[in-house]
Amino acid sequence: MNRTANRSSGRPPAFSYREVRKGFLRRRPVGSALQCDEVALERLAERFGTPLYVYSASTIRERMASFDHAFRKVPHTVCYSVKANSSLGVLRLLAGIGCGFDVVSGGELERVLRVDRRASKKVVFSGVGKTAQEMLAALETGVMLFNVESEAELWRLAECAARTREKARIALRVNPDVPANTHPYISTGLQQHKFGIPIGKARKLYAQASGTKYLRIAGVSVHIGSQITDVQPFALAMERVAELVRVLQGDGHRIEYVDAGGGLGIDYQDASPAGFAEQAAEYAAALLRPLRGLKVHLLLEPGRSIVGPAGVLLTRVLYRKTNGPKQFLVVDAAMNDLLRPSLYDAYHEIIPAYLDVNSARHETVDVVGPICESGDFFARGRELPVVNEDDLLAILDTGAYGMALASNYNTRRRPAEVLVDGKSVKLIRRRETMDDLLRPETQLR
Ligand code: LLP
Repeated sequence: MNRTANRSSGRPPAFSYREVRKGFLRRRPVGSALQCDEVALERLAERFGTPLYVYSASTIRERMASFDHAFRKVPHTVCYSVKANSSLGVLRLLAGIGCGFDVVSGGELERVLRVDRRASKKVVFSGVGKTAQEMLAALETGVMLFNVESEAELWRLAECAARTREKARIALRVNPDVPANTHPYISTGLQQHKFGIPIGKARKLYAQASGTKYLRIAGVSVHIGSQITDVQPFALAMERVAELVRVLQGDGHRIEYVDAGGGLGIDYQDASPAGFAEQAAEYAAALLRPLRGLKVHLLLEPGRSIVGPAGVLLTRVLYRKTNGPKQFLVVDAAMNDLLRPSLYDAYHEIIPAYLDVNSARHETVDVVGPICESGDFFARGRELPVVNEDDLLAILDTGAYGMALASNYNTRRRPAEVLVDGKSVKLIRRRETMDDLLRPETQLR
């Protein structure tokens, strides 16, 4: 059975095919139409245009519930990692179900505060290069925890805290020197990476910080990378963190929080939302075993695993094109809309929004965008059902690091975003206009 057929039968509840009759979708014979929850994606494309990001609210809620449930036996807070998908509509949905947030810039903090002023109590502020201005803003809103990544940053934070007379609750983000089997650009837990404080140096720095009036030691944090599907590296990192927590507690520090970071991967080859509860349980077991016996509040920073499979990017085929032996589908989305294939050579499944029951023909194609770079592709040498010009394709599992990484390269307007919840459809970001793009610029005459 080919992958597309697998998808059509095995992808409940969002983004599954439903049988449609003639006339339901214009010009179509009997076939199956791809839906998001209760809504046909073709209808959304007609209404809002393409390229278009579509998110399933029910999938986001269900994945967050499964993740949270996996940690039910310990005190914990899930701080959704805003960088994965920072759209206000998505943040509002997550705030509404009681989520905390992991932010890495003053901008992300501002987004969270716009969604819910009181959410700052559940915000952790991470990042290797926080500016004084960002620290001051975070101190003023009273974030739960600063994850500090270097000695220099620690003293900068101490200065800022003294200026505001607000105590900064801190965790040192330690670098556990644990390899994670993922793309080198998103692996962070080795000494060669810019992230964190070498775990062997942390004890001394905690001792120095404890004598500082406006710093309050509150925890230890770690994050080893992203898109990690094997739970072993998480367990190993957590063993090293647990050992450090014991040492620090022995030194008399009050370690209230352990922040385990994010990084749990998804299966881009064949995502099955149905299996997420088990995956989350396995991840939780790997993290919790080393922490047994420690009285700490666990913080978690998942991003991709919550929103990744909840989103698709819809794009229309502009042209079919043959160059020698190669068949191309030139689509109206490009690397500026979804950068992951170009940047990480990432795989995203691509399926037609409509499957004709009478045609089972497949062909091998490159799916490429209109941008003037050969790196502008979504798939190369991929077997897909034969589609025609003007047909709609869905690029799957693009809810995380899709829109968040989009740019205006080639002066292209970024896509609109739609949040579907059952039958309800909300435009959570309109498509940019040319005026939106050009407003900050000046012509020097
Ligand atoms: N916490 C920290 C400190 C992080 O640096 C990250 C991701 C997360 C949490 C969330 O990780 P997640 O659960 O989403 O894996 N653009 C790349 C991913 C970059 C991840 C950066 N840090 C991609 O498209 O694959």
